[in-house]
Amino acid sequence: MPDEPLVLGIETSCDETGVGIVRGHTLLADALASSVDQHARFGGVVPEVASRAHLEAIVPTMQRALDDAGVTLRDIDAIAVTAGPGLAGALLVGVAAAKGYALAAEKPIYGVNHLAAHVAVDTLEHGPLPEPAVAMLVSGGHSSLLLVDDLTAGVTPLGATIDDAAGEAFDKVARLLGMGFPGGPVIDRTARDGDPRAIAFPRGLTAPKDLATHRFDFSFSGLKTAVARWVEARERSGEPVPVADVAASFQDAVCDVLTAKALDACREHGVETLVIGGGVAANSRLRLLAEERAAKAGVRVRVPRPQLCTDNGAMVAALGSHLVAAGVAPSPLDLPADSAMSLTSIAVAG
Ligand code: KG4
Ligand code: ZN
Repeated sequence: MPDEPLVLGIETSCDETGVGIVRGHTLLADALASSVDQHARFGGVVPEVASRAHLEAIVPTMQRALDDAGVTLRDIDAIAVTAGPGLAGALLVGVAAAKGYALAAEKPIYGVNHLAAHVAVDTLEHGPLPEPAVAMLVSGGHSSLLLVDDLTAGVTPLGATIDDAAGEAFDKVARLLGMGFPGGPVIDRTARDGDPRAIAFPRGLTAPKDLATHRFDFSFSGLKTAVARWVEARERSGEPVPVADVAASFQDAVCDVLTAKALDACREHGVETLVIGGGVAANSRLRLLAEERAAKAGVRVRVPRPQLCTDNGAMVAALGSHLVAAGVAPSPLDLPADSAMSLTSIAVAG
């Protein structure tokens, strides 16, 4: 296998059908079809709708990626696919497609972990990841802090959300402010016109007694409730709701806790690199605050550009390429989709 393997990655764990192609750390194609508009009126992703959309999009998205990269399936060294975690039916579409392509073209297949792929994608922008590193994954389904000693072998979870994920909090708060779905981008935009210090919303799990047991864990459910109560009180009193201030103050509460805990984890483990991934890593306030605080702590922050932070096929290809280059054995062709795949498993073992 070459040092710079040509790897194709397929992502279908949620509402984005993604096919990416990389050579080593170089991105050649990143084709994406999203079903987000079909979920908007429900205020969240509807699994059956997502599965059907993947079925319709997978073949054309695959073709687009191959065309964009100017390669054929025959040129590919390995196929990587998200095996989990994610929506069971949605994962199945990608895994079944990957198996079909792998079988037809006689290529090795790697069933990979979606969360580890969110970390690996940064190598496409910033080159090999220095290890050890601390990774913070903040998406619609997950908020975790991880210690990355060796991304090919497994990562050590340091903490995670005990209730809502960070992206989920953005989506729920946007919904109660009547802003639509997904909430993150619209709150990000609206917050630019607001004052982040206008309302003192709670910072979950940061009190000394909580830090003793949940130092690297997150909680966003109390914050969401606090925003709901604050808005209700305003509406009851007949005063207008200052939407931009609420958005900015809520966003600041989330980003304050995320960055404080991530840098605390770097300090505790003597780590000088923090990589941030997942959809919420696209947040402009989070990126700015992380940069500011990391600079003070002597930590280098690596955050991929926003298009690579949200779900895509390139991240799966990036992790696949890393595994191939490290000589990791491929997964068996009958690999399962595992909706609850644990982070201790980076790829389905061969
Ligand atoms: O990683 P991702 O695309 O899918 C999952 O694996 O969940 O993350 C989607 C989440 C959504 O909750 C969305 O609201 C949030 O990422 N998000 C953002 C931003 N862009 C997307 N949250 C805050 N600020 C943003 N700019
Ligand atoms: Zn994701």
